[in-house]
Amino acid sequence: MPGLPAPHPAATCLITGASSGIGAAIARELASRGHGVTLVARREERLRDLANELAEAYPVRAEVLACDLADAAARGALPGRVEALGLRVDVLVNNAGLGTHGRFVELDAAREAEQVRVLCEAVVDLCGAFAPAMAARRSGGVLIVSSLSGFQPVPNTATYAAAKAFSLSFGETLHAELRGCGVSVTTLCPGPVDTEFFEVSGPHPTQRVFPKPLWETAEAVARAGIEGLARNRRVVVPGAAMRALVASGRLAPGGLRLWVLDRFYRGAEAQ
Ligand SMILES: NC(=O)c1ccc[n+]([C@@H]2O[C@H](COP(=O)([O-])OP(=O)(O)OC[C@H]3O[C@@H](n4cnc5c(N)ncnc54)[C@H](OP(=O)(O)O)[C@@H]3O)[C@@H](O)[C@H]2O)c1
Repeated sequence: MPGLPAPHPAATCLITGASSGIGAAIARELASRGHGVTLVARREERLRDLANELAEAYPVRAEVLACDLADAAARGALPGRVEALGLRVDVLVNNAGLGTHGRFVELDAAREAEQVRVLCEAVVDLCGAFAPAMAARRSGGVLIVSSLSGFQPVPNTATYAAAKAFSLSFGETLHAELRGCGVSVTTLCPGPVDTEFFEVSGPHPTQRVFPKPLWETAEAVARAGIEGLARNRRVVVPGAAMRALVASGRLAPGGLRLWVLDRFYRGAEAQ
């Protein structure tokens, strides 16, 4: 059965969106287990601070590759940059993301397309760059950070929810295709997590819809994701309340779910 590959000096875990929130927590979780990490995001200074913190706290190699994942050419250069460091990617964590909200027709179309590039295109691109070698070695792990929003369309976050449905479907399929190849593939679907996500997106209806006790910490979500990957779990939804929400949502007809969510989010946007 596949699990997390054992730490190796020539191997690294490449984590996108490691400059804050869930990505930074995943980097800490992996480094604490003895894995070398390669931190990817746009804010290089933040990545350097985290790399220094990890290299001081644990006997691991922590590398920094600043990259705008919305830029296809910059993404395309990543495999060569990893190779130039003398490293191979044993674990790939597709975590980077952003989320807009509001009625689609009122949103900036360019920002919506950027969201798709980061949440969908970059995930396919990076899996395409690193998963074939993992399958050939019969060893590796791919963690894809999707969202609770991936389980159904969500009015007021049309592009985000659709993009997360894409990454959830893609991750589940990859999990099935790589079964028996020694490569773990897990899709992590958190509910609300207290991170900078809501500073980047601006005041978000999720902050009003979900009461605070239902929010998870980035650390708890990161641990659940890495433990799920180590067990090659197909999908991980952190938190019992969120798992109950997903299960009950699946029982309701699609039209009813859309109506209820529209009422919820419309009300929250209006507050
Ligand atoms: N917070 C939640 O409630 C929640 C719930 C479910 C799922 N998620 C998902 O969890 C993931 C992490 O989000 P978070 O909550 O940790 O938010 P966060 O604290 O805002 O972190 C987002 C990360 O993505 C990176 N990023 C964004 N655009 C990028 C780009 N163009 N190129 C490279 N990196 C980029 C950011 O780095 P730079 O700005 O430095 O580039 C940052 O490191 C996302 O995929 C999000 O959709 C979050």
